[in-house]
Amino acid sequence: MKMWAGRFSKEVDSRVNDFNSSIRFDARMFEQDIAGSMAHAQMLAAQGILAKEDADKIVDGLDTILTDLKSGALAVDPNAEDIHMFVEQVLTERIGVTGKRLHTARSRNDQVALDIRLCLREESEKIVGLLLELTEELTRKAEENLETVMPGYTHLQRAQPITFGHHLMAYAYMLARDVGRVRDAAKRMEELPLGSGALAGTTYPIDRQMTAKALGFLRPTANSLDGVSDRDFCIELAGAISTVMMHLSRLSEEIVLWCSWEFKFIELDDAFATGSSIMPQKKNPDVAELVRGKTGRVYGDLMTLLTMMKGLPLAYNKDMQEDKEAIFDAVDTVKLCLSTMTPMIHTMTVLKANMRAAAAKGFINATDCADYLTKKGVAFRDAYKCTGGLVALCIQKGLTLETLPLEEYQKASPVFQNDIYDAISLETCVKGRTSEGGPSPEAVRVQIEKIRTFLTAEKR
Ligand code: ARG
Repeated sequence: MKMWAGRFSKEVDSRVNDFNSSIRFDARMFEQDIAGSMAHAQMLAAQGILAKEDADKIVDGLDTILTDLKSGALAVDPNAEDIHMFVEQVLTERIGVTGKRLHTARSRNDQVALDIRLCLREESEKIVGLLLELTEELTRKAEENLETVMPGYTHLQRAQPITFGHHLMAYAYMLARDVGRVRDAAKRMEELPLGSGALAGTTYPIDRQMTAKALGFLRPTANSLDGVSDRDFCIELAGAISTVMMHLSRLSEEIVLWCSWEFKFIELDDAFATGSSIMPQKKNPDVAELVRGKTGRVYGDLMTLLTMMKGLPLAYNKDMQEDKEAIFDAVDTVKLCLSTMTPMIHTMTVLKANMRAAAAKGFINATDCADYLTKKGVAFRDAYKCTGGLVALCIQKGLTLETLPLEEYQKASPVFQNDIYDAISLETCVKGRTSEGGPSPEAVRVQIEKIRTFLTAEKR
């Protein structure tokens, strides 16, 4: 019979047992569950609710369970209802009746709320660590490509010249914001729900400040109903992770494009690409595609959590057991993606000559041509129109702005002199974009330095 079977006269139907059980996905919280129980027992003893010897016996018993679960000497029973019941049951088998005293002044509702917070607090730090590693890698690659001219795009049309370093730093800054978002979500996990009881607190003289301190929380949650029924922190973390995935997916999309014969801007290392079972020539960017694909699944996890919570009356409802599969899936997926992307980026080869060649086509220096006129006193709109005419002429004659003869320039505007060719050389165009945040090597170096300062501060 179940531990809670006091008022029941029948065994639970085996189908209900399987349906109801969460052990398959909450067993991973065993360390957090045991840590919470130890702190709870010690607080009970300090408050005179539990005898000191009993608390010691409980803590020692829990310690042996922890050791055995870690070493594999004790296996989680797949028929148990959940990790909380399993640990308590083993404890009682090991230390006898004293084990039955552990659950005094506690409910599984505040217990599970505690375990998830403890668990996600740790996972958030791991995600931050992986985000910092990828940011660092992108920054390193950017530094190697400060002078690697490539076309910058809008609408996936060649737009203006940038460098590969500048492009990579854009992702570094996205990931830096992600670090902030994950840390911010983790901040809301810093309140201890334990002591909320099932929903209405307890009549025992518990000391929630003590448990909060022992488990590294800032303070206890302020309201017991909210304490047991809040899953905002799961939703916030899933939201932050979804944004991370969105960023990784955009980068993946670019990697897929850059690997194609149409671009050929990069070559993935053989260890980070895969072949085709039929087409011998293929080298596919499967990793990037999978990251892009898994993004949808993480969005699904976020939607699962939001939808699960939207109709729930206070306080705990069993629906909330569904939180774990969704948030753990989001956490595991983002960790997997981050730890595969970093070495993939590290090992890829940048095909600088191809980037440079692509930059030479597509009139990406047209703005610079217009700016040339503007700097010599022509109003920008007139300069824009004049340059547009020159681009049309080049297309008609199969030329580029670099190869268009000076007399054609001068027919369009007498302001053009021989120095136009220097003004529109791609190197000049990139180097001249020294505005803060821009692609010139010195401007990108500033971006790199700022990110490095951020990385040092965040690596606590
Ligand atoms: N396995 C449950 C969960 O994950 C634990 C809490 C159960 N509480 C209850 N009153 N049935 O949510």
